[in-house]
Amino acid sequence: MGSSHNFTFPRIEGKSSRQAHADLPEGTFERELGREGFFGPATMMYHRNPPTGWTQWTGPLRPRAFDLTRLSEFGKTVWDAPVVVSNAFVRMRIFKIEEDMRYLARNGDGDELLFVHEGAGHLYCDYGHLEVTRGDYIVIPRSTMWRFEITSPMTLLLVESTNGSIKAPDRGMLGRHALYDEALFDTPKIDEAFADQQDAGWDVLIWRRNALSSVRYPFNPLDAVGWHGDLAPVRLNIKDIRPVSSHRYHLPPSAHTTWVGNRFVICTFVPRPFETDPAVLKVPFFHNNDDFDEVVFYHDGDFFSRDNIHPGMVTWHPCGFTHGPHPKALQAMYKPKNDFTKEYAVMLDTRDGLDSSPQSDGVEFADYAESWRTSGPVVPPSIPDA
Ligand SMILES: [Fe+2]
Repeated sequence: MGSSHNFTFPRIEGKSSRQAHADLPEGTFERELGREGFFGPATMMYHRNPPTGWTQWTGPLRPRAFDLTRLSEFGKTVWDAPVVVSNAFVRMRIFKIEEDMRYLARNGDGDELLFVHEGAGHLYCDYGHLEVTRGDYIVIPRSTMWRFEITSPMTLLLVESTNGSIKAPDRGMLGRHALYDEALFDTPKIDEAFADQQDAGWDVLIWRRNALSSVRYPFNPLDAVGWHGDLAPVRLNIKDIRPVSSHRYHLPPSAHTTWVGNRFVICTFVPRPFETDPAVLKVPFFHNNDDFDEVVFYHDGDFFSRDNIHPGMVTWHPCGFTHGPHPKALQAMYKPKNDFTKEYAVMLDTRDGLDSSPQSDGVEFADYAESWRTSGPVVPPSIPDA
């Protein structure tokens, strides 16, 4: 088979800006139509009405939102944790740990990315002991044995890279220390707490190919006295992420990529200054990300482009339609109310379509698709004078 490339013919048709996300023609809303997660061919289109101004939705392809704070059943072990969304390459779940885990978990299917939404505790694993707290990401390599002892009840978001791994993103022109310095990664320690664990009678619950196996040891298999190498769990706190921003350009979510899996990425939204150029968009542009499903877990703060969303909720925008800011945010598209965003959120973008689960369906915010509705036409704000 011969090589190929995306054909390219940048054109300007009708009334248009020559710079994406800036200098929009008077009285218009911008929409980006993009392929390959905005790294492929893309067009900016200028509309008279917000592309989210629908008045009715029928059929399954609708924007969805789930209020995970309404879930009450999390199961006995981490392998019973409710699935929020999944496909063949990734599985997002939510789990609550209200007492110390008296078993070891081991995922034979892939690396697992844990995000501590609430609580704090101690991770014990093959590699040692690691204290964890709210806002921590922990990457657990495939087949690591692990458990938590809690200091306060923990709510964890879990993202399994099914049959794959979790890697750091390529920072490209930003340089290798942008977003976060990998020297910040904490790894487990073979310390006194690790040596003092209960020695007898541990079960290891191994998840592999959608089936659970249990292996009993008469001793504690977390008994390493040392190790060396470059494979181990790593921890990074959300507050150690240093977002990139531009005062003259609204960067796409891909600029906030924290982790890369197999056919998905995880981006993190943390507080950053709003753009200051008067003619530049201050809210996410309308877009169809035409090859990716987009899922956002809201961790903390004030979610500036969304109405009716609180921490612990998840939104899911399957690819195939246009989405964008809610009407209230749109009125501030050139003049934000604050100097900084105040949101902390974890975004999962998947190259393959996702499915929800009976558990997430059970806590769906049913009117989410209607939440862009307004009582009358939405008039695009004018670009303020410099
Ligand atoms: Fe999006």
